[in-house]
Amino acid sequence: MSEATLKTMSEAMLKTMPEATLKTMLKVVDLSHFLPNAKPDDSPLLNHLQCDIKAGESVAIVGASGSGKTTLLSFLAGLDTPSTGKVLIAGQDITVMNEEARAKVRAQQVAFVFQNFQLIDGLSALQNVCLPLEVKGQAKPEAQAIKWLERVGLGHRLGHNPTQLSGGEQQRVALARAFACGAPLLFADEPTGSLDIKTGNAIADLLFELCGHSNQADQADDIEHNSTAPYNTKAPNNTKASDNTKAAQTLILVTHDLTLAQRCDRILTLTDGQLVETAMLSTKSKGEQTGEAGH
Ligand SMILES: Nc1ncnc2c1ncn2[C@@H]1O[C@H](COP(=O)(O)OP(=O)(O)OP(=O)(O)O)[C@@H](O)[C@H]1O
Ligand SMILES: [Mg+2]
Repeated sequence: MSEATLKTMSEAMLKTMPEATLKTMLKVVDLSHFLPNAKPDDSPLLNHLQCDIKAGESVAIVGASGSGKTTLLSFLAGLDTPSTGKVLIAGQDITVMNEEARAKVRAQQVAFVFQNFQLIDGLSALQNVCLPLEVKGQAKPEAQAIKWLERVGLGHRLGHNPTQLSGGEQQRVALARAFACGAPLLFADEPTGSLDIKTGNAIADLLFELCGHSNQADQADDIEHNSTAPYNTKAPNNTKASDNTKAAQTLILVTHDLTLAQRCDRILTLTDGQLVETAMLSTKSKGEQTGEAGH
């Protein structure tokens, strides 16, 4: 096929894509960051980094341990501010905002899933999911929380505290908490990093399913999944119809697991303080690929 034909085809495809999928959800302009204890001639941890992520995309960020992935995520999610540069979430520059304004953007736009779950000890699974909904002033927070906990297969564990739950169950509570808020932009920092392979696969399946990227698991057809988690992938009964039909959420996933990274639309490698677009492996070689990314 000629280059001209390919160009015409891709232009035609772009024209037929829904507008939402073309909107920029997250834009990073010239972001640099120096560690607090850096010496004057040290290179910055993040160095004039640029990035553009469209609404509905799933993007994996990989890179060596210590390359700055978690630090970068904290800037992208508005949890912290870089030394210089801009981060725009849905067109709003969060780096020029005060903490109050940034917290508002976070509440509306951002959800976070961590490697170590970050559930509050002493609160039940239900209370952990309810709390951010109450803070947001969402209507009927308890009913919402129950629906999402049922959706992740934990309807029978509502009253359990984190210490009474397995790692996989705790991460499912964390997913319920993240998705219950309905934020369009989801960050996940090594969400399967502290789980065994089988549980990790089940959590990854659930994460992609809830984000609306479930087809990606099917695409990686030769990746073996032993997921048998008893979660309910159907929307809760009285979830709005739009929850089933809406466009995919934007997912930014940090992982050392190349198989997991391959399930995303794009892979960006953080190296020398910059994000580098990384070629996806073919479906065939995906199945052969195991081991860690960026090491
Ligand atoms: N608050 C801080 N003060 C000083 N140094 C820090 C701080 N936070 C992170 N660092 C350093 O910044 C570097 C990047 O850390 P970061 O946690 O972002 O890496 P990472 O890529 O997420 O690594 P991993 O894959 O192991 O999670 C590390 O060298 C770390 O020690
Ligand atoms: Mg990290």
